[in-house]
Amino acid sequence: MKEHISFDEFDEIRNPGPECTDFERISEIALSRRQVLGGGFKWGLAALALSTAGNSLFGGRLKANTSRMAFEGISANTFDTITVPNGYSWYPVISWGDPLWSNVDGFNHDTRGTAASQELTYGDNNDGMTFFEHQGRFIMAINNEYTNRSIIHGNRATKLPETDDDVRKNMVAHGVSIFEIALQNGRWSLVKDSVYNRRITPNTPMEITGPAAGHSMLKTAADPTGTRSLGTWNNCGNGYTPWGTYLACEENFNGYFSSSDDNHVPNDEMKRYGIGNKDWGYAWAKVDERFDISKHPNEVNRAGYIVEIDPTDPTSIPKKRTALGRFKHENAALAVAANGHVVVYLGDDERGEFLYKFVSERKYAQGGENRNLLEDGTLFIAKFEDNQTGRWLPLTPESTGMTKAEISIHTRQAASKLGATTMDRPEWVAVNPNKVEAYCALTNNKNRAVKPNAGGDATPAFGPNPRPKNQYGQIVRWNPMNGDHTSVDFEWDLFIVVGNPKIHKDEYAGSENVTEENMFNSPDGLIIDETGLVWIQTDGNYSNEGEFAGMGNNQMLCADSVTGEIRRFLVGPNECEITGMTWSSDRRTIFVGVQHPGEKGNSSWPGGGNTIPRSTLIAINRQDGRQIV
Ligand code: FEO
Ligand code: CA
Ligand code: CA
Ligand code: CA
Repeated sequence: MKEHISFDEFDEIRNPGPECTDFERISEIALSRRQVLGGGFKWGLAALALSTAGNSLFGGRLKANTSRMAFEGISANTFDTITVPNGYSWYPVISWGDPLWSNVDGFNHDTRGTAASQELTYGDNNDGMTFFEHQGRFIMAINNEYTNRSIIHGNRATKLPETDDDVRKNMVAHGVSIFEIALQNGRWSLVKDSVYNRRITPNTPMEITGPAAGHSMLKTAADPTGTRSLGTWNNCGNGYTPWGTYLACEENFNGYFSSSDDNHVPNDEMKRYGIGNKDWGYAWAKVDERFDISKHPNEVNRAGYIVEIDPTDPTSIPKKRTALGRFKHENAALAVAANGHVVVYLGDDERGEFLYKFVSERKYAQGGENRNLLEDGTLFIAKFEDNQTGRWLPLTPESTGMTKAEISIHTRQAASKLGATTMDRPEWVAVNPNKVEAYCALTNNKNRAVKPNAGGDATPAFGPNPRPKNQYGQIVRWNPMNGDHTSVDFEWDLFIVVGNPKIHKDEYAGSENVTEENMFNSPDGLIIDETGLVWIQTDGNYSNEGEFAGMGNNQMLCADSVTGEIRRFLVGPNECEITGMTWSSDRRTIFVGVQHPGEKGNSSWPGGGNTIPRSTLIAINRQDGRQIV
């Protein structure tokens, strides 16, 4: 695999999927929408005229005279470091390969570690994270999404795994890192050898729960019960529950499977999930046969789930919650509805896939027994209408003709039967703790109105995905009817339509709250704080040229959910993505993930000089010691 093409692009090359048979029709829809709205396509206030509701549905009002943000927005840049506003400072907390225990050496820049050292050290490519307070101690749980072959194997001439130990090393760089942190001299740092420290890897025993547990499609030679699998990998965004557990979300799980038999023909179910005879170059099947789809075809059905982990018990067995469906899970945003049911919003991050929500069968009871609430419930998919209303369609045996187990395993196929809205790559979903509403970052979709999704569902430009060949992305927001997250009906608006107003004067300039000063592309991480400020992290094009001129490196911005104001809060080092964020319980520190600096070879952050770049968790404080707002 070429190092610098995205997971999605690799999947498309390997499995191009159905050709668009109705391209002209889709283009017509896109064109007519633009004509209806006129040349000066506007979101924000101008679009309010389209709203059928009396209250304002569109965000992007810019005229607020006072800002709730306690910082001045910073300029875009392409510096190989972290930039934060005046009055704030940052420091690294832990980097890829740093030891969690004292029986392993520190990171070796020449060898970049071994399988044995990697298993005892912080994983690579930190992503979603949650800070937990437990019995007066502080525990961090962080996803280690994947690893860049050219960096972790950069000591090899091929920049690929050359030995079995290389393969095992890149394998255990994936998973989740859990560790205690403590404040020392005003800085958070790792507590080595803490009883809480734990690495969860692709080899950690897991329990499969929910409707799919024990199904024949989950049974393998190693596990005839279909309830015990090994490991989790490619955990992207995250979630957490009010009962104190962490949710790791299996996203691009497909690219680790391959076939030793070149003539093997992957079935249609595999193709929908991008599983083929070639992996992305990690070579796991070389050291572990379960990743060989010609030998163990059911193994693929045991990945692609939400994994619930108790960070306070290092002996606990993580649980794969199949009731939340199997797809390329980005994150999991949980809300307890007024009626006590637990609602989890979920995105499937691939071009033209769907936005989901799960509603638990049973109710949450404060202080009660809640540990298995994610074991059963109903999944819904979002169908948006152009008139800013929408409806959640239930995925049930009645609506899909599939059993509950089949819906849990082949969720995408079930969703395709209902004609829901194909989305511009749903990344993080966030629930506003201040208001009954939720947001989803739709990162970009170059295939919008160009070709259907991998299941053949059309992708016309309309509703919350209004722009063909959408290179910038947008953030959609919905208000459940009657202030109830379990309602099937909702109203929606576009909180931010991302764009470049310097280059474009049409719809690609973005909504009115996007300016030449705060513009960015490809929103991905999304976290809403207790004050209703929306923190946006980007995983986009950092060329700073052409369509992306003036946007600089990937970054983190803050947007006001009430006024629509956007300010840039942080700019990352070269070739990184900013992803994952959590607060200390005293709200004086925010932790932020810096993922894959130098993914194309042009960074030495955070070490500088001749050091190799390393994904790193950083902490940010206000210099006056006050809470971060
Ligand atoms: Fe791992 Fe969709 O980002
Ligand atoms: Ca992401
Ligand atoms: Ca992304
Ligand atoms: Ca990433």
